[in-house]
Amino acid sequence: MTAERLSPGDPNSFSRPDEVKVTHMDLVLDVSFDAKTLSGHVVLSVEKVNAEANVLILDSRDLTVSMVQDFDTKQSLKFELASSSTTFGEKLEIHLPDSPNFKPKISVHYSTSPKSTALQWLSPEQTLGKKHPFLFSQCQAIHCRSLVPCQDTPSNKVTYEAKITAPHDLTVLMSAIRQGEPVKNDDKKIHKFHQPVLIPSYLLAIVVGDLQSRQIGPRSHVWSEPALLDKAAYEFAETEAQLSAAEDVCGPYVWGVYDLLVLPPSFPFGGMENPCLTFVTPTLIAGDRSLVDVIAHEIAHSWTGNLVTNSNFEHFWLNEGFTVFVERKIIGRLHGEPFRHFAAIGGKTYLADTIESMGASNPLTSLMPDLTGIDPDDSFSTVPYEKGQAFLWYLEDLVGGPGEFDPFLKSYIANFQYRSIETDDFVQYLKHYFKNTAAAEKLEKVDWQTWFHAPGMPPTFVKYDDSLAVPCKALCQQWSDWNNKGCPEPTPMSPEDLKALSPSQIQEFLAQLLLGPPLSCQAIEKMQQTYGLNSVQNAEIKFRWLRLCLRAQYKEAIPLAVQFATSQGRMKYCRPIFRDLYNWEEARSAALEAYDKVKDQWMYVCAYTVGKDLHVIQ
Ligand code: BES
Ligand code: ZN
Repeated sequence: MTAERLSPGDPNSFSRPDEVKVTHMDLVLDVSFDAKTLSGHVVLSVEKVNAEANVLILDSRDLTVSMVQDFDTKQSLKFELASSSTTFGEKLEIHLPDSPNFKPKISVHYSTSPKSTALQWLSPEQTLGKKHPFLFSQCQAIHCRSLVPCQDTPSNKVTYEAKITAPHDLTVLMSAIRQGEPVKNDDKKIHKFHQPVLIPSYLLAIVVGDLQSRQIGPRSHVWSEPALLDKAAYEFAETEAQLSAAEDVCGPYVWGVYDLLVLPPSFPFGGMENPCLTFVTPTLIAGDRSLVDVIAHEIAHSWTGNLVTNSNFEHFWLNEGFTVFVERKIIGRLHGEPFRHFAAIGGKTYLADTIESMGASNPLTSLMPDLTGIDPDDSFSTVPYEKGQAFLWYLEDLVGGPGEFDPFLKSYIANFQYRSIETDDFVQYLKHYFKNTAAAEKLEKVDWQTWFHAPGMPPTFVKYDDSLAVPCKALCQQWSDWNNKGCPEPTPMSPEDLKALSPSQIQEFLAQLLLGPPLSCQAIEKMQQTYGLNSVQNAEIKFRWLRLCLRAQYKEAIPLAVQFATSQGRMKYCRPIFRDLYNWEEARSAALEAYDKVKDQWMYVCAYTVGKDLHVIQ
């Protein structure tokens, strides 16, 4: 069967905002931990783009729709819920009222399913405090449709309001501004929110749990379960400095509040840029602030992604490539240019590793993949991030460096803010911006075709300043030389080696080793004796160390790797570790057994992608 594009503007959404578009959502929902559902209704303000159109097409997934009404007249409206496509959910068609009203309001009464792919319901035992249940959402890329019937395409943007009823002893937060204090209603409380800035559906977010907050800056609080709050507040103390550096790069921050929420370990990403409230994994808490680049990344999305948005996930590099580029501008502003370059070198190593494992001719390694019939969860990789940032840095160099490119970046954001765009909008604006300058001729010579459509590594990289990477590469060389000589004693390596390196340099040293052939078990044992890496808490270091052990087929590492990959559900870590275990025959059954035990504790997207990696899901 050949797949088809679901709609002209977005291969992954049934909706047609080019015909009739939703402009505002008003959610009224009750949170039931017993039923594991959100139920109630949403009032959609719609606008006919085509005057002739008489149906509103929405995306849905596993939703039970009981009634659709014209909000003003309460007249019930005919609707059809199509049969299910496992990847994209169900198309919901609503017949609009026959009135001459071009801007009707439609209320849809519905309930989510306990297996909603956007939601993770945790029992009290699965939380730190062990006393209260917990709920969180993750809508990107196309899971919002399993939380609310909506036009689940980033080509459309809406404002929203919400009234959420939840157990009285729990806190509710959303990707929005809180409105007043929660109001008591029997044994529940009603919480109100509003998001006055236009957002794509994937930025809708909710969390319900035993949460406390601490102020960490003039516009920022950090939220977490009480037991983690002190550590979280310490770890993310640089937030305001990162925000002001970001404003310096991108322009004013329009979202008012910038709060952080630390989730339970099953949160499947490092961070998620939900407006007003970035969601983060607890694996960022290393105790020494060494992993806060992820916060700079999510802050950068406040402009690239949240203001200027990819119009569908084939143009995802416009979100993530730009965001990595801005993230590193922030790092450069705060810590100096060499750190910006060092981060880019790390990204290049990561990209090489990813392309090696995906295959250099894999179509999903191109910057603009064709997502017809493809679930964005299946196409997700570091390619749009790192190839995208390599492309932007290449363009920056081409037009004359940061002096020329920084003002362009600000102008690009100001020009496209509050809108959704495609790659060509960026290219045209770039050419237009530089048209009467010396850069114009250079831009004519760019090989756009290769950059956008060729699979594999990018055609070129600019020369990054490698002053901070030199010691990482040298130490990597030392170990691989020693390994290649058959590990003769005494070793030239000593515990002092790592003392001279920062956590991100240790991470890069291990990443470099991972790019080479496997080490021997003897070398792994020596490395453990010399550096004691088994007891390192920094998740990025631990992740690479365990992979290095598995590559060496070092048996003692199997239980440690299983323990690490099942103690959290961040896909960046779980997927490669499970793949490594699977690819090593002796570890395969341990991987399959561990997967079986942990999969119900993970979020859907993690269980699904790891299941595919392990060939237990087709
Ligand atoms: N928006 C992404 C996370 C995402 C992407 C969720 C696609 C679902 C679908 C977020 O900003 C992100 O990129 N997170 C990274 C952070 C890193 C690149 C610094 C992560 O989770 O590791
Ligand atoms: Zn991102």
